[in-house]
Amino acid sequence: MRSRRKVEHIQHVLQEPLSNADFSDIRLLHNCLPGTSGSRVELGTKVAGLDLALPFFFNALTGGAAGTEEINHKLALASRHFRIPMAVGSQKAALEDPSLEGSYRIVRKTCPDGLIFANLSAGCSLEEARRAVDMLEADALQLHLNAPQEMVMPEGDRDFGGWLRNITEVTEGLKVPVIVKETGFGMAAEQVGMLAQAGVKAVDVSGRGGTNFINIEAGRAGFAAGELADWGIPTPLALLEALEGKSGTVDIIASGGVNTSLSMVKSLALGAAAVGLGALPLKLILREGVDRAVKELEEIIEGIKKYMALLGARTVTDLKQVPLVILGETGEWLRARGFPAHKYARRDFRQLS
Ligand SMILES: Cc1cc2nc3c(=O)[nH]c(=O)nc-3n(C[C@H](O)[C@H](O)[C@H](O)COP(=O)(O)O)c2cc1C
Repeated sequence: MRSRRKVEHIQHVLQEPLSNADFSDIRLLHNCLPGTSGSRVELGTKVAGLDLALPFFFNALTGGAAGTEEINHKLALASRHFRIPMAVGSQKAALEDPSLEGSYRIVRKTCPDGLIFANLSAGCSLEEARRAVDMLEADALQLHLNAPQEMVMPEGDRDFGGWLRNITEVTEGLKVPVIVKETGFGMAAEQVGMLAQAGVKAVDVSGRGGTNFINIEAGRAGFAAGELADWGIPTPLALLEALEGKSGTVDIIASGGVNTSLSMVKSLALGAAAVGLGALPLKLILREGVDRAVKELEEIIEGIKKYMALLGARTVTDLKQVPLVILGETGEWLRARGFPAHKYARRDFRQLS
């Protein structure tokens, strides 16, 4: 059952057009005296204490079903090319049936020195978390939150109790950093605050606007999602919420339909430490193959560099100091929630390095 579901998820992503989160309310200011050169822009960043060569990585997608070893192999080849981290899909299947481990282990085989993120549900035990990390010699563990998806699946879980307690236990007991991620419905400031308190090193807001598992599961079950299709916090807002809710050293990752150079730059400028890419690399790799996917991602990287040069930002840290004007519904939301939008608009270009 689980294996068929995973294959159908991939088929759905391939059939549907790529869905982009709407960042149009977030406006960057042109810097007419940028003082930078595009060729000298540096794209390195740090997430959960790990050094990334580029400010994006491949987010959790798959493993544990027919054809997924090949998909993970191709994704791993591209991640190795860019020296960016790659997360595998939920390893629950392989914990239950070790014959499926190969579809995940292929990632470590392909990237012996790469950064790899293990992945399980936030409902997992510490013992399961350790086994998932060991399976891949993983550098971090992602724990995913997916209540809306479970709710729509006829066979899905209905009991979401104990997640925060589990997360705390896993965070305290595991040697590698824990990243808690949503799966397309976003996070609010309050829960990000609780996750930071629980000791997670990074939260990935994975907001609404990209892959939508309510639509996917409703489609699989043969009914229309109706009003539920609008459920969730849009990615730019989830990011702003997370930045308000975070405390201590927790890093915020932006994902959920962040597929273009401009939306990546806006996410980083708002304060994300990095961007997670889900459907985009999957589609590119399956439709066009690894080489073409690498070329398309290189174009995105060039785009990021161009925007950074135009803003006068030489590094990803510089980007966090460029002014942003937050308009429209996004601005209204911030005001309604009592979060200051003007602090982004009043940033001072002149303090860039
Ligand atoms: C086919 C597919 C399978 C996924 N499987 C997982 C998973 O096993 N674990 C997980 O944490 N997230 C999973 N996700 C969610 C992604 O990691 C990501 O949070 C979500 O797709 C939003 O990002 P996107 O809009 O860039 O796709 C999956 C996404 C897709 C498209």
